[in-house]
Amino acid sequence: MIEELITDPTFRQLLKPHLDNAQFLSLELGKLVKEYSPDDDFSVAQYLLGLEYYKKRLHAIFPPGQLFLDVGCGAGNWSLSAASFFQQVVGVDLREDRLKVATRMASSIKCSNVRFESASALRLPLDSGVVDALLCYNVLQFIDHPHRLVLSEMRRVMKPGGLAYFWVPDIGIILYYLRQTFGSRSVAQWRNMSRILGRAFLSLFGFRPISWMNQNYMLNICQRSGWDVKGVGSECSIGNLDLKPIFPPEYARFPFGREYLLSPRS
Ligand SMILES: C[S@@+](CC[C@H](N)C(=O)[O-])C[C@H]1O[C@@H](n2cnc3c(N)ncnc32)[C@H](O)[C@@H]1O
Repeated sequence: MIEELITDPTFRQLLKPHLDNAQFLSLELGKLVKEYSPDDDFSVAQYLLGLEYYKKRLHAIFPPGQLFLDVGCGAGNWSLSAASFFQQVVGVDLREDRLKVATRMASSIKCSNVRFESASALRLPLDSGVVDALLCYNVLQFIDHPHRLVLSEMRRVMKPGGLAYFWVPDIGIILYYLRQTFGSRSVAQWRNMSRILGRAFLSLFGFRPISWMNQNYMLNICQRSGWDVKGVGSECSIGNLDLKPIFPPEYARFPFGREYLLSPRS
């Protein structure tokens, strides 16, 4: 069944460790996203994990509050999960197709306190100092603007004492994609890998965007854009969560990615 929903071997591979966890998996949600957006394997895979999974993750990180902002919300899986313990949720993304899916998913599950908007992380559609909790999961590396400016914009909308969670990839993800690509005959996968490697190569000469962010780089831009770092670790380590992370903690002994918990510096 999963094979019918997810055709991309990379996403299938990443989902594998989660498939035995019937506690969270949701074929119904996966099927709905497939119906709304047949070619977006990434979003189908995110919903297959089930909203209960994301709720547990969010509960362990954020206290309940008024306004939750999901930057780069994609098809809305994190936003809809946050809606059960925040009064209002705003999800922003640049991809209209994913925003459409997110909006349709919200009405399918009758979730009325979430709003999805087309906006860039560089210009958030919110007043200053209004956000209690901000999530930016697996997004920063795709943003084509200087990360320091993007992080400053996110810092602007935060309430004093608010919390922000980021997950960003490290070098392990590049090695993983390389391995996947060499074992594949898919033109799309080779095209994607060339793009990632091209970006990685340019980043060696100081050009942005980059495809992964090591810990020193992240700590440096957080510091320069007005954030205090409250925690850093491999995925699911903040809040001591006994859950499988979405991505593997490492690949070929290199870190796959890291999570960061930040608070705006006063
Ligand atoms: C890998 S997806 C992650 C989606 C979602 N956070 C999740 O975990 O399911 C990255 C998302 O970032 C969005 N994105 C890229 N650049 C952006 C920008 N400048 N502003 C807002 N969203 C952006 C993309 O459109 C895409 O939906």
